[in-house]
Amino acid sequence: MPGDKSISHRALMFSALAVGTSTATGLLEGEDVMATAAAMRAMGAQITRDDDGAGNVTWQINGVGVGGLLEPSEALDMGNSGTSTRLLMGIVASHGIKATFTGDASLSGRPMGRVIDPLSLMGASFESSKGGTLPLMMRGALPAVPIEYALPVASAQVKSAVLLAGLNTPGITTVIEPVPTRDHTERMLKGFGAKLDVEEQADGTRVIRIHGEADLKPQHVTVPGDPSSAAFFMVAALIVPGSDLLIENVGLNPTRAGLVQVLREMGGSIEEVNPREVGGEPVADLRVRHSQLSGIDVDPAIAPSMIDEFPVLFVAASLAKGTTRTSGLEELRVKESDRLSAMAAALTLAGVSIEEKEDGLAIHGSGGEPLPGTPEGQTVTTHLDHRIAMSMAVAGLASAGGVTVDDTSPIGTSFPSFMDLLTGAAR
Ligand code: S3P
Repeated sequence: MPGDKSISHRALMFSALAVGTSTATGLLEGEDVMATAAAMRAMGAQITRDDDGAGNVTWQINGVGVGGLLEPSEALDMGNSGTSTRLLMGIVASHGIKATFTGDASLSGRPMGRVIDPLSLMGASFESSKGGTLPLMMRGALPAVPIEYALPVASAQVKSAVLLAGLNTPGITTVIEPVPTRDHTERMLKGFGAKLDVEEQADGTRVIRIHGEADLKPQHVTVPGDPSSAAFFMVAALIVPGSDLLIENVGLNPTRAGLVQVLREMGGSIEEVNPREVGGEPVADLRVRHSQLSGIDVDPAIAPSMIDEFPVLFVAASLAKGTTRTSGLEELRVKESDRLSAMAAALTLAGVSIEEKEDGLAIHGSGGEPLPGTPEGQTVTTHLDHRIAMSMAVAGLASAGGVTVDDTSPIGTSFPSFMDLLTGAAR
């Protein structure tokens, strides 16, 4: 599996904020991560890619230190990447610089108010487009003001934006997280030498405190494989009869591994082979065999640990026996597309029986029978969303007539080798 997207973004950002030279291997070279690299360069970091000719790629990052970012001379083009945008807004918020963020049509429709609100409390100021969207211009505050912030939405991006603003803020910045979300920021900031503590309360609430005016020390980061990319091949193996697939190098951080649990509950055969640790994260190879899946009611509490995997879970559910019901998924409506309506429309076109609710889908599975596929001359609309394109490609594998997708180019944002792996052109 290619490198984890969330971890790759953070590796570049934190390296750029360390004084000295950091290196990263296994970095995802998708468009989203490259947007982060370009932005860090535009703010003063030096970033180079070295290929030894034998397939070993090392990224080298010369950081400017916390507080040392320069004002970018042009707008920062974030492309399709919400993670780049929201985390960088956090970093800029406590630097005495201004920056303009732009993005593609998908990103320009996504809500930024969720980071504008806490970062404004810290002293940053914003001029955004209508509805708190990109393009937006922001001015960081120096010094910024430490805050204690309870997250109103379960979002690792909002949590990270506040913690990253806290890096260059005097005193202690606190984030209160009622529902745990991916914790790569916390793990990696500690690895870079920041003083950060996490208090777990009896009810599951996490209180995260970052001590400001931090000094980050350069590191070598090994990026583990992305479970959100592995998800497509896990589901492909489960729904295509005769499959027995070994997926190598899958990150299994508990805050990301919800899909494995849900697919097992549905009867999926997924075995963890050679568990190990890579870059401070749990990793294993996964052996996945074709299985007759059964529909279940998915516990909404598990949503944050598989938030990006619902599109492909809906595909698995389409082949299951019985009905799969999901709820509590309002956040899916503000991802790269409205993933509830986009997947409901896509799977309906491919012949699946679906009911769309405000906060989830009910999917009546085929019981393992191949899906009809998209009708001649009609295509699935991906809405600039890589995960819709990849999920529906997987659905096509288990369809009688095939699935046609209007646009596969968004796949390059997170998983450039997807098509070659799927067709067998690459291993
Ligand atoms: C991410 C957090 C999640 C996820 C996104 C990556 C991150 O977004 O959907 O793909 O790297 O922090 P939210 O924080 O909006 O849930």
